[in-house]
Amino acid sequence: FTVKANQLKAPISPTMWGVFFEDINMGADGGIYAELIKNRSFEFYKPLMGWAVEGKKSEGDILVLNRQGANTSNPRFLRVNVNEANNISIINEGFRGMGIKAGLRYDFSFMYRQAKPGVKLYLELLNEKNEVIGKGESIPSGSGSNWDKQSVSFNATATAQKAKFKIRFEGNGVVDLDMISLFPSDTWKGRPGGMRSDMVQLLADMKPGFIRFPGGCIVEGHDLATRYQWKKTIGPLENRELIVNRWNTEFAHRPTPDYYQTFGLGFFEYFQLADDIGAEPLPILNCGMACQFNTAELVPIDQLQPYVQDALDLIEFANGDVNSTWGRVRAEMGHPKPFNLKMLGVGNENWGPQYLERLKIFTKAIKDKYPNIKLVNSSGTDPDGDRFNLLNTELRKMNADIIDEHYYRKPEWFLQNVSRYDNYPRNGPKIFAGEYAAQSDKIVSVNNKNNLQTAISEAAFMTGLERNADVVIMASYAPLFAHVDAWQWTPDMIWVDNLQAYGTPNYFVQKLYSTNIGTHVVPLLNNNKTALIGDGGIFASSVVDKKTNELILKIVNTSDKEAESSFNVEGVNKLPSKANLTVLTSNNLGDVNSISKPSEVVPNETQIAIKGKTVKLKLAANSFSVLRVKML
Ligand code: AHR
Repeated sequence: FTVKANQLKAPISPTMWGVFFEDINMGADGGIYAELIKNRSFEFYKPLMGWAVEGKKSEGDILVLNRQGANTSNPRFLRVNVNEANNISIINEGFRGMGIKAGLRYDFSFMYRQAKPGVKLYLELLNEKNEVIGKGESIPSGSGSNWDKQSVSFNATATAQKAKFKIRFEGNGVVDLDMISLFPSDTWKGRPGGMRSDMVQLLADMKPGFIRFPGGCIVEGHDLATRYQWKKTIGPLENRELIVNRWNTEFAHRPTPDYYQTFGLGFFEYFQLADDIGAEPLPILNCGMACQFNTAELVPIDQLQPYVQDALDLIEFANGDVNSTWGRVRAEMGHPKPFNLKMLGVGNENWGPQYLERLKIFTKAIKDKYPNIKLVNSSGTDPDGDRFNLLNTELRKMNADIIDEHYYRKPEWFLQNVSRYDNYPRNGPKIFAGEYAAQSDKIVSVNNKNNLQTAISEAAFMTGLERNADVVIMASYAPLFAHVDAWQWTPDMIWVDNLQAYGTPNYFVQKLYSTNIGTHVVPLLNNNKTALIGDGGIFASSVVDKKTNELILKIVNTSDKEAESSFNVEGVNKLPSKANLTVLTSNNLGDVNSISKPSEVVPNETQIAIKGKTVKLKLAANSFSVLRVKML
């Protein structure tokens, strides 16, 4: 094979390899959002879901009250009537238990209201055997008709995978409680009320070019009432109105009737996360259509304006100066500097004339006010279907900036479609491969695995995305996270339980691409003529990094035999005698990582010797190799 290292083809967009975040599979609540208390504000459909009450209670000792109009975003609270005889406790079960770490500090806080002091709260973390593994106490000291907040921290003495949290009341009096919260102190960047650092670290390690949020179907909602509305996800936590999650129960492998979005992780936190990990933020907004796989509810065109206004206001929230209405809100939340939003998605997996007519209204309003914001448009879900092609044609006619294509397909489809973008028109819209994942079984099946085969087929497909970097400017695997005890969708890139998180082979493929992005595509040719697309089961692409003066080859061997290959590098004075080679492979195509064996299929880095300007490689069967070599 020949690599023409000095023939710079397309520049590679710095956003090329990114991540897609959705609160599915307990990705946010119960996942990356580190809150341990489930239903902390008693707003779930069943107000005491997640809570158990113990004690010799009489009628009226525990009440859920509803403020209704006095607080529409967080109407309910708990009233506890404490006396010496009733010995009441409330126990929270967490999100499939609470992951507790020995020696770590836990921060408990709550909002309360009481006529006068007299009640004491004893706090206990209990392990699976009901043994106390951490305790604290708190005496609410304020009095009157206003709500106060109080906090106390304590350390855990032991580790538990599925702990629970007990609040035992002593004394005499009536206390109203709301926003009962417990966070570990080892959150990402140590932010109080922040995110699980092990999960964020896996994202940060990828150095993703962008982060798309908040989904996915949750953008659309089952119906319009449960669509994602970013304005309800910012500001003080107690004012963020929770809604039922689009992934609540339906399709659930493990039933999730308790799946809500509390929005502790809201749009401000998403922007902050993007900032933290150096990724461009890519928010997606509802376009006036609920999920077309569900209710398919539509907002009439003459009532679309509030939806459009949400988009305009979001741009101001992200980019406006501190004197603008929404820029000031951002500044008050702690980020006076703009987030520098450059792209915005309108609609997720929406289609048909209904989508197009709404999209046109959004596009005009946004482009009139913010001509530099690039808009991401949806092209639906079936990459081989007529509907998809029709929509694509219409979006091209509209001169869309970026078209978001999704493909959840068999590994074979990914291999057969490596050339998908080779003949795409070069002057029209750019492509965002916004959601893709090879399926070892049918979508959502228990047998659908993140195995070596799916990872290798995605790696092969991605050589085609990379080779076409003049058209494809962004790509992301989906979904991102899944909790082993509460998932609705498989496969998923990163799996977690309450204490651990691990990357699948698919994660390592994504990471190898995003950490070896390069700046320009250069030709990698078979017999000096054509791109290397499947000959002998080998797929390859090559880029250079002009900043470091390195050549980066990505080579996928999808055959079950080791292959000897040789790459003649043209256009360099010379190559060093050594180069770094990273290989992802395993013994069997079905091999996976798991909580108990998180490192079965992980990349292995070695140095190889180079003679002259020829790189000779032995490509292991079913492997993905990345070679990085200095150009001298
Ligand atoms: O990634 C899971 C789901 O797949 C997303 O929510 C949706 O956009 C797609 O159908």
